[in-house]
Amino acid sequence: FHEGRVFSGIQPTGIPHLGNYLGALESWVAMQNDYNSVLYSIVDLHSITQPHNPESLQNNILDMAASLLACGIDPTRSILFQQSVVSEHAELSWILGCLTSMPRLRHLPQWKMKSKQKNEGSVGLYTYPVLQAADILLYKSTYVPVGEDQIQHLELAQDLARIFNNNYGELFPEPRALLSSTRKVKSLRDPSCKMSKSDPQKLATIFLTDTPDDIVFKIRRAVTDFTSEVTFDPVGRPGVANLVSIHAAVTGQTVEDVVRLATGLDTGKYKSVVAEAVVKRLEPIRLEIQRLKADRSHLECVLAKGAEKARSLAAPVMQEVRKRVGF
Ligand code: ADP
Ligand code: NA
Repeated sequence: FHEGRVFSGIQPTGIPHLGNYLGALESWVAMQNDYNSVLYSIVDLHSITQPHNPESLQNNILDMAASLLACGIDPTRSILFQQSVVSEHAELSWILGCLTSMPRLRHLPQWKMKSKQKNEGSVGLYTYPVLQAADILLYKSTYVPVGEDQIQHLELAQDLARIFNNNYGELFPEPRALLSSTRKVKSLRDPSCKMSKSDPQKLATIFLTDTPDDIVFKIRRAVTDFTSEVTFDPVGRPGVANLVSIHAAVTGQTVEDVVRLATGLDTGKYKSVVAEAVVKRLEPIRLEIQRLKADRSHLECVLAKGAEKARSLAAPVMQEVRKRVGF
């Protein structure tokens, strides 16, 4: 059991997929037992940094709330809330933005990637990592579960904590990364890329709301190769290795165990075994998402209570920030 506070966020951009679950949400659930203060935010302010549809955003927020609860986020043990409802996030972000130089942001990976895709990007997309820093520091968080791709953004949050403390007096602890130990789940159709909800290939991604039939269908069509044996060789046989690591992750076994158990199976038969294991793991979550989505007012109530708790932590910190800054 650790002292300190965990903060993490996820964008409401659709139902989470198997990669989000194994790479992030599963450990979010476990952290509820390991840390005495845990906040999980549905970061809707982040999701409008790219063009969006207001009606889908509203639905996506509730879908994400239902998904997180179904995965095991327990609102009596963690503070689950919608970011934009706690206006202190935006306020602190402005103040931290005034402590951030332009060049510091220019080289961060997300801006480089997403602004290039669109050939331009909004100011919001550019300052996205500053808002992330505000999310974290607003609660004086000490631990931030992140994927490897987010390390540089967390370093900005650390820098900003230091810069603020130097300018205005010690206030923020320097947040530390809790790196996910799970291997990245790869696209079923192109194992050189990670599984992603923005993958245009419909068969590439397994969503938490996929039915058993959907899952069997997608895994049966997963890219493998011409060798029929099951081995774990991420470089030489990335498709098969991806199935093996998914299998290990959903059953809680080691890769070695899984490969040993698959001795004698060809990759075709092995796909059925993997599909069955994934179904077994995801089916209770799918049914729970379905149940929760049918009760919109319950979801709204959970989020309202979460926001209340988040606000009660954020308000005194923000009050102190304002005083230090000279407002
Ligand atoms: P996506 O790329 O599908 O939009 P996000 O960027 O919203 O996913 O990621 C949300 C969380 O899920 C992050 O912590 C990220 O590291 C994790 N994550 C996303 N895709 C994968 C994956 N394929 N394998 C493991 N973890 C992943
Ligand atoms: Na992403």
